[in-house]
Amino acid sequence: MEQLLSLETPLVVMGCVLLSWKIVRHIWSFLDVGKDPVTVLVTGAAGQIGYALVPMIARGEMLGPDQPVIIHMLDIEAAADSLNGVKMELIDAALPLLKGVVATTDVVEACSGVEVAVMVGGFPRKEGMERKDVMSKNVSIYKAHAAALGQHAAPHCKVLVVANPANTNALILKEFAPSIPEKNITCLTRLDHNRALGQISEKLDADVSDVKNVIVWGNHSSSQYPDATHATVNTVAGEKSARELIADDKWLKGEFVARVQERGAVIIKARKMSSALSAASAACDHMRDWLLGTPKGSWVSMGVCSDGSYGIPAGLVYSFPVTCHNGQWSIVKGLKIDEFSREKMDISAKELMEEKTLAYSCLN
Ligand SMILES: NC(=O)c1ccc[n+]([C@@H]2O[C@H](COP(=O)([O-])OP(=O)(O)OC[C@H]3O[C@@H](n4cnc5c(N)ncnc54)[C@H](O)[C@@H]3O)[C@@H](O)[C@H]2O)c1
Repeated sequence: MEQLLSLETPLVVMGCVLLSWKIVRHIWSFLDVGKDPVTVLVTGAAGQIGYALVPMIARGEMLGPDQPVIIHMLDIEAAADSLNGVKMELIDAALPLLKGVVATTDVVEACSGVEVAVMVGGFPRKEGMERKDVMSKNVSIYKAHAAALGQHAAPHCKVLVVANPANTNALILKEFAPSIPEKNITCLTRLDHNRALGQISEKLDADVSDVKNVIVWGNHSSSQYPDATHATVNTVAGEKSARELIADDKWLKGEFVARVQERGAVIIKARKMSSALSAASAACDHMRDWLLGTPKGSWVSMGVCSDGSYGIPAGLVYSFPVTCHNGQWSIVKGLKIDEFSREKMDISAKELMEEKTLAYSCLN
């Protein structure tokens, strides 16, 4: 009898522990109020950036690893089958954070209730087309998308324009969606920023995560000015100026600037297609830092509405160094600008003024 009891006691204890664990888990599942899903719009989702971007969003690379998402994908009628294929692949990937997918060619359905909008859809420049023709097509698209977002998106919706001409498309969106606060409309220059980090890390054979505070000023075009004047590198001896470590101003003002400005064209030559993976990754970086904040002591480049800082005409969508906190970006003020930088920054601002004039002439 005693023997039997000594065998039974541990079994009873184990049973009680298991039962208590089940009860705790049951109660926990009731208490565990996980985050509500965020609805994210991706336009042009059947295209090559869209195809790389949607799984990144659904894996938490844009809004965080514990943030469920519902993805709305918009494309044009001609791409409807392909868009549906992307939807099927997203379902087949069985991604735990993905709580719903809408694939549509209806701009109103696509924009309804969205809190984050990534505007990748646009008309590409085709052979023989004039700059004005491409501008005209995109201005009409962005005017229509602005109206739909203004009427149907959540009032606090945050917008990132990726499609080119990115700064001017964002400017048009800002003009024609007056109900969306202008601070909520931005464009992507983070790819150029990341390219600049990559070039410095290669030059110094440093880990890219040890390099920070490069700046991309201006337009997402070949007039952009990648500036390493204020960049730093984390070394075993502490944080050092990238400029001092490189000790080659000729390279920084020449080859470095040209390499970043021309990287997109070099990739097209190599891939016979434009950058997609790095553009999608940069779009995630842009949104994540905007919504979740930039690390202390670091800034990033974002195309934002100028407040006149650094003498850039107010109202232009221009790429500046920004820090982000509580879902708001702020332009980094008071950086010393030398004569070389001043000239380059003004060239890009002038190009954006010209694009703005051209865009408005297309609307009339
Ligand atoms: N800002 C940047 O850093 C950056 C970097 C790379 C590419 N881009 C730009 O991003 C855009 C997309 O590039 P991609 O390689 O994915 O091009 P893509 O041609 O593969 O895809 C574009 C998609 O947009 C769709 N589209 C066209 N008009 C539309 C409309 N009215 N509504 C919804 N969708 C529409 C097309 O059908 C297509 O599926 C291009 O304008 C490209 O120049 C910007």
